[in-house]
Amino acid sequence: MTEECKIGVIGAGNMGGALLSGLVAAGLPPAHLTATDLREAVLQPLSQLGVRISTRAEDAILGQQVVVLGVKPQSAPELFQLVKRHLRLDQVLVSIMAGVSTATIESQWEAPIPVVRVMPQTLAQLGAAASGICGGRHATPAQVELVRALFDRVGSTALVAEYQMDAVTGLSGSGPAYIYTVLEALADGGVRVGLSREVALKLAAQTALGAARMVLESGQHPAVLRDQVTSPGGTTIAGLHKLEEKGLRDALISAVQAATERSAQLGQT
Ligand SMILES: NC(=O)c1ccc[n+]([C@@H]2O[C@H](COP(=O)([O-])OP(=O)(O)OC[C@H]3O[C@@H](n4cnc5c(N)ncnc54)[C@H](OP(=O)(O)O)[C@@H]3O)[C@@H](O)[C@H]2O)c1
Repeated sequence: MTEECKIGVIGAGNMGGALLSGLVAAGLPPAHLTATDLREAVLQPLSQLGVRISTRAEDAILGQQVVVLGVKPQSAPELFQLVKRHLRLDQVLVSIMAGVSTATIESQWEAPIPVVRVMPQTLAQLGAAASGICGGRHATPAQVELVRALFDRVGSTALVAEYQMDAVTGLSGSGPAYIYTVLEALADGGVRVGLSREVALKLAAQTALGAARMVLESGQHPAVLRDQVTSPGGTTIAGLHKLEEKGLRDALISAVQAATERSAQLGQT
């Protein structure tokens, strides 16, 4: 059903652009995708992929089945007026804007506009995004499913209650930056013990990729997988002991909590 879907994206910057290029890479016909943005520079690479481009936001609304709001939250109020003029009730409005509730968007209309909120990642461009999704008051289960199917094409999705969207933001929304930091630190460790930077980074990144795949594909708890690779008196337990001593778990749990709280705070401003 996603192949036939016509999708317009208003705001094709980092996130909107990543979504569109991910959808093209996933096999959606580029002619079914429309990118609109104020900046020509972000539209050109998408045009080269065959995506229809325009600087007029209405082109991402007229004739589309799904309309994605990919602008920064502060650009949204001026956009609502335009969207209001062109959006029909049989279209689905998808918001990827961090911290903006479906209720806030719905309140712009007197009519029951179907809104679906998504917290994706720019990893969508690699087909590797983790996205949290929730439907607004007027979105039907079929509309939420359609949006979920679209985001499944560029990674994997989790349906959550709207009150959990700040938690999604704190975990997976901000998560790539945590993982980049972990990878940089692991590579520093490799350099510290004599590896070249290039080799150290490659080994660290591939290790993270493989371990993540093992968790997802085996379905086993990470603690079980960890026990399988930790021999008595060996190297791994020595390293794990140091991680406990330095508080890695506490640091990561606190990071997710702090980012979740910050997301909730930003949503209130
Ligand atoms: N980046 C991420 O990792 C990420 C992850 C999840 C969710 N998000 C959400 O995605 C949204 C976009 O973030 P971003 O990082 O992609 O920002 P961005 O790179 O600044 O992209 C937003 C684009 O929208 C354009 N724009 C503004 N008003 C417009 C209008 N009226 N019509 C058409 N285009 C318009 C902007 O142009 P100007 O620069 O000229 O204003 C800009 O090119 C945000 O709401 C953010 O919360 C981002």
